Amino acid sequence: MSDEMYDLAVIGAGPGGYHSAIRAAQFGAKAALIEKENLGGTCLNWGCIPTKALYASSALIQKIREHGEDFGVKCSVELDFAKAVERKNKIVRELVDGIGQLEKGWKNDVFMGHGKIVGGDTNSGFDIEIEGEDNTTIKAKRIIIATGSSPALIPAFNIDHERILTSDDILHPDFKEVPERLLIIGAGVIGCEFGNIFATFGSKVTMLEYLPSPIATEERMVIRELQKKFDELDIELHVSQNVLSVENTGDGVKATTCSADVPRDEVEGAEKNIFEADYCLVSIGRAKESSNLGLEEMGIGTERGAIKVNPDTLETDCKGIYAIGDVTGGVMLAHVASYEGDVAVNNALTSIGGFPTHHETTDYTVVPATIFTSPNIGSVGMRRSDAKDKGIDVAMGRFPFQSLGKAKCMGEEEGFIMILANKDNGEIIGASCIGAEAPELISEIALAMKHGLTIQDVSEVIHSHPTISEMVLEGAEDVFGMAIHRKGRPDLDLHKKLKE
Ligand code: NAI
Repeated sequence: MSDEMYDLAVIGAGPGGYHSAIRAAQFGAKAALIEKENLGGTCLNWGCIPTKALYASSALIQKIREHGEDFGVKCSVELDFAKAVERKNKIVRELVDGIGQLEKGWKNDVFMGHGKIVGGDTNSGFDIEIEGEDNTTIKAKRIIIATGSSPALIPAFNIDHERILTSDDILHPDFKEVPERLLIIGAGVIGCEFGNIFATFGSKVTMLEYLPSPIATEERMVIRELQKKFDELDIELHVSQNVLSVENTGDGVKATTCSADVPRDEVEGAEKNIFEADYCLVSIGRAKESSNLGLEEMGIGTERGAIKVNPDTLETDCKGIYAIGDVTGGVMLAHVASYEGDVAVNNALTSIGGFPTHHETTDYTVVPATIFTSPNIGSVGMRRSDAKDKGIDVAMGRFPFQSLGKAKCMGEEEGFIMILANKDNGEIIGASCIGAEAPELISEIALAMKHGLTIQDVSEVIHSHPTISEMVLEGAEDVFGMAIHRKGRPDLDLHKKLKE
C-alpha cells in the first residue's frame, strides 16, 4: 500500500474518467486514474473513435461511387477492409497512447487494474484496492466512479462472440471480414451507424427493430430522410419486430421474430418470421458497469445497475464519492460524461478546500447528439412533438442542403436543417439536421441556446460565404419565412416583434 494520499482517485479511464483526472490536475490536485482495460474506455477503444474511423472509409467510398464521375474523377473503387481496419486500429492506438502521455504530463498516477472501494470516509480518506497488472491499495480524499457501460446481453440472443456479436466484437482489431449478409438487431444509434458502414462495404444488411421506427428519439422528418438513404443502400429494415431468439447455425445465424404487437402470452402461437445471415450484430442498448466496485459496502445505492447520484451535484449516497457518465444511467454520451466530470471534479475539490474551484450544479438543457450515418444527423433541444406537448407556440425554419452553394459544390445536396423557436420571445428551443457536417452545425445552435441567444440574434451573425455554416443562417431566417435562397412566406409581424 502506498503512503500517498491522493486528492482524487478516478475509477475508469473513459471520456468521463480520464477527463476528470486531467481537470483535477489542472486545478492543482494530485490525482490517480485506475483502469482495468485500456485508457480511453469504450469511446476510444470500442465506440465513437473506431466507428468513426470505419465510417470515414465508408463515406469516402460513397462519395466516389455516387459523385466521382460528376466531379470529373474517374476511378473504380474497391474496399480493402483489412487496410481500413488497420487504419482504424492505428488511430485508436495513437489516441490511447496520447491519453497516457497527457496523464503523465499532468503527473497523474495511472494504475492498470480493477479498482474496488474497500473502506474509509471523507475524514480519513477512502481505500481503493487495485487488482490486475498493478496490485496495490491506494488512498484518496475523494473518488469519482466513471466505469461506463458495456453492450447489453440478453440470454435469448445467445451472444457467442463468434457469429452473434456485440459492437465490441465487430470492432475488435482482428475482425477483418466483411460479412456477406449481416443481421442487425436494434436500429438505434449503434445499429444504424454499423448498418450504414457495412452496407457501403458491400454487406447485405437486414435490421430488426422492436419499435415502429428506427432512431425513435429523432425528428420524424429526419428519420424519413435516413430511411430514404437506407433504401438506396438496399438496407432491409423491419420495424415492430419482437426478436424471440437468435441461434448460431454453424455457418451462419438464424433469428426468429414475431410482430411486436402480439401480447406476451400469445407469442407462442403467433406467426413467426425467420431471418438468416452470416453474422448477427446485437445493438439493443448498453448495461451499466457497476459490479464489484464495493458500492453496497459503502452504502451506495443503485437502481437497475445504475449508480444513484444527486442529480445536481453527482455525489452518490456516500459523501465524498461521486459517479459520472454511463454508469449513472443518464444520457449515455461521451461528451455528457466529460461534462459531468467537470461538475464532479469541481464539487469534489471544493469540498476538500484549498483549490480554486467552486460548487457546480448540472445543467442538461442543451445536450447535442449526433449519429454518424450517411448523411450525418445532429440534434439538440426539443423536437416539434416535445414543443407541442409543452404547449409552446413554435415557429419553424427549414432549409435544404440542395439550395446552398457550398453544399452543391461539395456534392452534398441531401438533407436539411430545421430550427425551432418560441414564437413569443424568439428563444431557440431545438434544432435537427441531417446532411453534411450536421453535428458541427448543431454545435452552433447549441452555443446559441446555452447562452440564451434568440433566433434573431443568430440571423444577425455574419456567416462566412461560401460555407456549410450558412445552413444555420438560412434556417434561422426561414423561421420568419425570410431565407434568401428559399421562397418562403415572410411573417413580417413575427419578424418585427422579435426585432423589437
Ligand atoms: P439505443 O438505445 O440507441 O438503441 C437500441 C435500439 O434497440 C432501440 O431502437 C430499441 O428499441 C431496440 N431494441 C431494444 N431491444 C430490442 C429487441 N429485443 N429487439 C429489437 N430491437 C430492440 O442503443 P445502442 O444503439 O445500443 O447505443 C447505446 C448507447 O450508445 C446509446 O445511448 C447511444 O446514444 C450511444 N452511442 C452514441 C453514439 C454517438 O453519439 N454517435 C454512437 C453509438 C452509440
